[in-house]
Amino acid sequence: MYRIDIMTLFPDTVGDVLSESILGRAQERDFLRIETHQIRDYTTNKQNQVDDYPYGGGHGAILQADPLFRCWEHLRAQAEGKPHTVFLSPCGRTFTQADAKRLAWEHDHLILVCGHYEGVDQRFIDSCVDEEISLGDFVLTGGEIAAMAVADAVSRLVPGVLADPSCFENESHWDGLLEYPQYSRPEVWHGMAVPGELLTGDHAAVERWRRKMSIARTRARRPDLFETLDLSSKEDQKLLAELDREASRPLLPEEIICRPAVEADIPAMEAIAEAAREYLHAHGVDQWQDSVPPYPSRAHFLADMARGECFVLDCGGEIGAFFTLAAGPDPNYAAITDGKWASDEPYAALHRCAVAPQWRGAGLSDRIVKECERLALEWGVCWLRGDTHKKNKAMQGLLRRNGLQYRGNVLVEVPEGHDPRRVAYEKRIRK
Ligand SMILES: C[S@@+](CC[C@H](N)C(=O)[O-])C[C@H]1O[C@@H](n2cnc3c(N)ncnc32)[C@H](O)[C@@H]1O
Repeated sequence: MYRIDIMTLFPDTVGDVLSESILGRAQERDFLRIETHQIRDYTTNKQNQVDDYPYGGGHGAILQADPLFRCWEHLRAQAEGKPHTVFLSPCGRTFTQADAKRLAWEHDHLILVCGHYEGVDQRFIDSCVDEEISLGDFVLTGGEIAAMAVADAVSRLVPGVLADPSCFENESHWDGLLEYPQYSRPEVWHGMAVPGELLTGDHAAVERWRRKMSIARTRARRPDLFETLDLSSKEDQKLLAELDREASRPLLPEEIICRPAVEADIPAMEAIAEAAREYLHAHGVDQWQDSVPPYPSRAHFLADMARGECFVLDCGGEIGAFFTLAAGPDPNYAAITDGKWASDEPYAALHRCAVAPQWRGAGLSDRIVKECERLALEWGVCWLRGDTHKKNKAMQGLLRRNGLQYRGNVLVEVPEGHDPRRVAYEKRIRK
């Protein structure tokens, strides 16, 4: 059992706080024992006086060495081994999670000494204290709050106190990172939605998002910690590159309107499609290449418009993106290999989408998926499907982070000599 003795002038206050909740239950279950000791009980004068004037003059009083020593000696005499004595002091080294680990795992008995008034006679510190710990660069009235903080942080690392080591291993400061943002129900609160990545059910995607958020938060809030991190792994380098790209994203206009495309939009849509074909070619993605006429272009857009399935995102009068949301069923999706669709219910399928080059990376593609979900629900459909080339990592990332899950492979019509295989994704849309 791990033991913590706290020497203080306010034993009841300290004891009450440390016997609540998790630490209280850990003490009932004998993983831990925390006891507080009234320093005044170890005085030898009638008034139980523990303080006196400072030699050399000055304000306030000093906790005398003798009652402190007698209390400490009493605790030492009772101890089985040699307890580790910590004096809480603004002159100590600043307490960190690394200290909490060290105190929890290298010792099994702590004596925490709380100062008060102007401080403590140095001779007690020199004779009895193993280390001085500060809670931070500020001055408290007494050491109690600091002792409670140290006792709490150490106790939760003692085996058995928390249900599982994973309870503390993913927390801030465990490996030098700050924790990622956390969310609980409801899914939308005051108009603010939980990030889509957390709703995917894809454990790896959730872990990746959390690490990315931790890195971003640490870099923004604690550059001192960030500098000491080892982020040399391939995965972390990718996350950093993503964060850098996102930081240099163009700012979208405040109002983005999703509306059905009209014929007058076609020149802008064709220019976006042309830029998208160049982008895919440059990234080795065999999609939208070498069709005559080019794919997609005027005829496709007009056909989609006639069916009421072609939409644009209007960014302050400029076409920022286009997409086709087809009301199923899509004959290409009838035969799926290496997997299966989750449902035979009606679905809408996202096809032919592209973002204008000047808005790439600004979040318009996520907006496209959100608009697809909204439109599908309006059409009375609660499944969304989409497909893309297996080398089109950007599109796969978009689908995955918006909660679409890989279902298998389908074939699409492409010009001779091109790859007709596509990876297919699906999502049940939540209302
Ligand atoms: C008013 S303080 C004394 C401050 C002292 N005169 C000084 O300037 O360093 C009284 C007691 O509160 C506790 N204390 C104050 N600030 C603290 C901190 N940042 N960390 C830990 N303990 C602190 C110490 O036990 C200290 O002896």
